[in-house]
Amino acid sequence: MSNNTLILGLQWGDEGKGKIVDALSENVFAVCRFQGGHNAGHTIKVDGVQTVLHLIPSGVLHRSVKCLIGNGVVLSLEAIKKEIKGLEEFGVEIKNRLHISENCPLILPSHIKIDQVRDKDEFIGTTGRGIGPAYEDKVGRRAIRFGDLKDETLLRKKVSRLIKIHNKLLKHFYDSEPFSEDEILNNLLSYKDFAESFSINTTDLLMAWAEEGKEVLFEGAQGTFLDIDHGTYPYVTSSSTTIGGVSSGLGIGPKHINNVIGVVKAYATRVGEGPFTTELFDKDGDEIAKRGNEFGATTGRPRRCGWLDLVALKKAIFINSVDSLCITKADVLDTFENINVCIDYDGENPVYKSFEGWQEDTSLFSSYDELPQKLKDYIKFIEEFVNCKVSIISVGPSREQSIHL
Ligand code: GDP
Ligand code: IMO
Ligand code: MG
Repeated sequence: MSNNTLILGLQWGDEGKGKIVDALSENVFAVCRFQGGHNAGHTIKVDGVQTVLHLIPSGVLHRSVKCLIGNGVVLSLEAIKKEIKGLEEFGVEIKNRLHISENCPLILPSHIKIDQVRDKDEFIGTTGRGIGPAYEDKVGRRAIRFGDLKDETLLRKKVSRLIKIHNKLLKHFYDSEPFSEDEILNNLLSYKDFAESFSINTTDLLMAWAEEGKEVLFEGAQGTFLDIDHGTYPYVTSSSTTIGGVSSGLGIGPKHINNVIGVVKAYATRVGEGPFTTELFDKDGDEIAKRGNEFGATTGRPRRCGWLDLVALKKAIFINSVDSLCITKADVLDTFENINVCIDYDGENPVYKSFEGWQEDTSLFSSYDELPQKLKDYIKFIEEFVNCKVSIISVGPSREQSIHL
């Protein structure tokens, strides 16, 4: 029987999933992404060196770990090639370790354009990576998929049809320049060898691994409240970021998800537009942003900051069947005199419980016993309120700055 872990975000993304996946994946057989695309930015810090991953699973720095990108991911060929190149230049071998589903819908330059021009009217504050339009074409049954690159006749037909649709939309609806079908086609054809090397039926692969009892880790991107169904719609991303996305995005049944770790910051952040009940507009918010270095790992945009919302957290735990919590960035709150958590809503407003801050540097601690009592009290309150135990407390960006309970 395998022991597969799912790690996913319980807020609006950037909870520190990348760091935790890296820290927990040393001894697993493979790390698998199941949704999202290069809108994700997952940061890992090892020996003082920071790596930001967008598409490649965050187990990649452990040389023996395989990396799998499932059918639920929308794939930008340019982005993945760039990421592979960067990792290889850094001495990380990718060949024979990375497997990409032949069913991944591709993100084309026209998707990116549509995303960017549309966001000027719709104000979602997307990452501008073409994610939404690519998922629309997937659901519309007209997407070009990674495996299509191996069949030139089919590819020509599909590109011609799809670009005609994109150009109509761009010209007549968004008053924007059309794309050349030939240019897009020729660009795609240049990735034929790449597709031959990396594309595979990842469900068959996972089934074989499961039969061999191999342990895999599932890596979520974005966060629960960016989920297309369960998030703060329409201010969401276009994929299933919650637990259900694992099964649909990889072709693996829920029985194979044996342990769910929900990652949550000790406070809250959000990038882009949309409701954020506990958002701060005062010096506490500025202090969190500064100490937490809250700038997007993908777009560099400043992240909005606020207090931890336990009402929302409780719901996220339910939606995802979370077994235990990983609380990240506890060290960011080290300097605060008072720390608030939201325990109820009064209409649109948060009702807070206030804690005295521990005002001690926690970044060097490596065991639970060493932690200040006030931090322990804060954690205990969270555990009791949401009825879920904490298994990891992260006190810094580096791989070893995690306390396992
Ligand atoms: P992800 O998208 O969930 O993987 O998170 P991001 O990488 O976008 O953002 C998390 C940021 O916080 C990164 O810059 C990490 O290096 C950093 N980080 C992760 N955990 C901790 C922590 O416990 N303390 C501090 N200070 N920084 C952390
Ligand atoms: P990781 O995996 C934080 C947000 C965007 C925008 C909304 C829709 O690093 O946690 P999209 O480009 O996906 O259509 O944008 O979702 N968003 C993220 N916010 N972390 C992410 O990923 C995000 N990926 C998308 O800012 O509000
Ligand atoms: Mg991120």
